[in-house]
Amino acid sequence: MKRLVGTSRTYVDAGFSALVIDWQQLHGRHSLPWQQSRDPYRVWLSEIMLQQTQVAAVIPYYQRFLSSFPDVFSLAQASNEQVMAHWSGLGYYTRARNLHACAQRVVQEYDGEFPSQPELLAQLPGIGRSTAAAIAAFSYGECAAILDGNVKRVFTRVFGIDGVPASKVIEDDLWLRAEALMPPAGEPGKIQAYTQGLMDLGATLCTRSKPRCDDCPLKLRCVALADNRVTELPTKKPKKTIPAKKVMMLLILDREQVLLEKRPPSGIWGGLYSLPELAYADDLQVATVQTALQPFGELDSMQQLKAVDHVFSHFRLEITPLECRLKQRSRAVSEDTHIWYPLAQIGQAPLPAPIKKMLSRML
Ligand code: ADE
Repeated sequence: MKRLVGTSRTYVDAGFSALVIDWQQLHGRHSLPWQQSRDPYRVWLSEIMLQQTQVAAVIPYYQRFLSSFPDVFSLAQASNEQVMAHWSGLGYYTRARNLHACAQRVVQEYDGEFPSQPELLAQLPGIGRSTAAAIAAFSYGECAAILDGNVKRVFTRVFGIDGVPASKVIEDDLWLRAEALMPPAGEPGKIQAYTQGLMDLGATLCTRSKPRCDDCPLKLRCVALADNRVTELPTKKPKKTIPAKKVMMLLILDREQVLLEKRPPSGIWGGLYSLPELAYADDLQVATVQTALQPFGELDSMQQLKAVDHVFSHFRLEITPLECRLKQRSRAVSEDTHIWYPLAQIGQAPLPAPIKKMLSRML
């Protein structure tokens, strides 16, 4: 087991950033939509979207978001529903709620101008240390170190670091290296090329599976490659089995419309709409469904449909849909919590992607 040496000075090595920068300039990505601007709003938006989502999935969302909310003021003024509808399908919805809150803070506290110091950026909702550094580097040329999942993979392999990267000792050591390995300050454009280069290396060559070590600018100094341990590193977290939850969802249909219910602001799908839920029961009684439906109308017929699974990071949700047709609809539903939504337009509803997919398949 390699011993970790705990000062950043030990890790200084100007050759490292030079290799990354040269490679980025020749082989890195240069035409991603958010690379065409140094506007902090665009950089911030892209970095938040890219936190847990791959480039290809982000691009159409980024473009739609920008055409609806071209600047931080329009985003701050938008309603929560509008923001959630634009995020719908991208997943990890806390990001969208934080994004909206962050836009409002930037308008209120900074007159709409994102601060340039990473320490201030990191105090805003949804911006962690690494994202703050990326925004500061790309928009303002600030020398600040990033350490996202891709960079952790590059570092653990190049330096042959054993141990789970998310553990405190390993993460502290990786941050020391990230700080020490940055290019020297004061050379225009270097921090941007270096930061992008680390991201590009992790995303295109030093991938989790089938890394392309032959093409890597760091191959001559990669400890994992020399020791034939590339597939072993980074050390995987011990697998824990995720719990399963079962729920019934009411697909209440009436006059070519479906009833949607707003989710509570926190928890999964917070702020989005979904279908009304019922606790799962193997022997569901009609009376239970009638009672649940009572505020919305009188039950005519119901049919249990095939269950569908959705896997979240920390649990598996098994959804049993229950199609309910109404004899008669109650006069009104509270607009704060429920809406009758036209089935023909379900593609545009502010629904989580798995619910939208399930509905499109069933309808
Ligand atoms: N992942 C996180 N930030 C990124 C960026 N700016 N470009 C490409 N991939 C990224």
